[in-house]
Amino acid sequence: MRVSESVIRRAFEQRFQTPPAFVVRAPGRVNLIGEHTDYNDGFVLPLAIDRAVWIALRPRADRQVLAHSLDFAGSTTFALDELTRSDDGWAEYVKGVAWVLQEAGHRLHGWEGVIAGDVPVGAGLSSSAALEMAVARAFAAVSDLPWDAAKMALLGQRAENEWVGVRCGIMDQMISAAGRAGHALLIDCRSLHTETVPFPPGTTVVVLDTATRRGLVDSAYNERRSQCESAARAFGVSALRDVSSACFEAECGRLDEITRRRARHVVTENERTLQAADAMRRGDAVAVGRLMNASHESLRDDFAVSSQELNVMVECGRRHPACLGIRMTGAGFGGCAVALVHSEQAKSFTSAVAASYQAKTEIAPVLYVCAATDGAAVVRIGELPQ
Ligand code: GLA
Repeated sequence: MRVSESVIRRAFEQRFQTPPAFVVRAPGRVNLIGEHTDYNDGFVLPLAIDRAVWIALRPRADRQVLAHSLDFAGSTTFALDELTRSDDGWAEYVKGVAWVLQEAGHRLHGWEGVIAGDVPVGAGLSSSAALEMAVARAFAAVSDLPWDAAKMALLGQRAENEWVGVRCGIMDQMISAAGRAGHALLIDCRSLHTETVPFPPGTTVVVLDTATRRGLVDSAYNERRSQCESAARAFGVSALRDVSSACFEAECGRLDEITRRRARHVVTENERTLQAADAMRRGDAVAVGRLMNASHESLRDDFAVSSQELNVMVECGRRHPACLGIRMTGAGFGGCAVALVHSEQAKSFTSAVAASYQAKTEIAPVLYVCAATDGAAVVRIGELPQ
């Protein structure tokens, strides 16, 4: 189901018999290029998409939080003074964000509300980061906290790392917090400096969900991170961001074969990402597409995080004349590919590629034409209760 401001507001009204005081929205994301570079202090170029997590809420006088999830048909209630970690699925993200905001010294108010989203879960479109940033926005609204996108993204990442126990980089929270409508965001994952980048005229972003999900993604992700860290140590730098391709070529002999391949992906991907941002600013869609294609090859062959279905999707996409470039996106091993296509043929692209993928794999994919939206925001402020 697609969620909108009116859907979430009606759900709140049904449950609480009164309009919400706030409606907040935080988007999912798709990454155009710059994969597995964020935890190497490198560059990423994602966009916030028109699929998001929404919360309609009102403050409570006490320090209780009561949240009902429409997607998971369940509720969570907890006291801000007695946060305990458990294995409670989506509710852990709500508690984790409360915990991290209090750890950062913020004085929080309780609230009650309903949560719903239309970012597909587990597809690699960052439904967790969207939930974290929506919850952070909700607490910021009821507790009157200033919204600093980078600070909130770092806190969301810490909640995911330390409360939920997933080791992710900063990209997903940062783009969900700071995205800009109609633009991609070039993020320097070391300084968290961001720069809006326009899309080349006449192009559209398409997300292609292979409808496959891989269970081993967490352990493979952690293994890649360790390989990157040991490569950085071998080069004597704090992160692979500091290795240029010239330096890599000159000194990669000291790495074993696997570590060399992993490092080569990161070093070349950082360069591709900066080149892609330049090409977008020049409106050179063909160059952006070429860089996306090269990114896929590097993720498939050097970083080894693609999957058979992702490779089939990429091949099917590349055969269509509308396609400027296509690659796997996100952590990998399943989930989605992303393509940049000629806008006027976007519809024919999605139907033709869906059909050829399904014919080859016998799996029904889901393809969306995407619009770039703003990052986490309060989209409606109602009457506050007296
Ligand atoms: C996941 C992580 C991100 C990033 C990507 C790979 O989405 O959450 O931090 O590392 O994988 O680019």
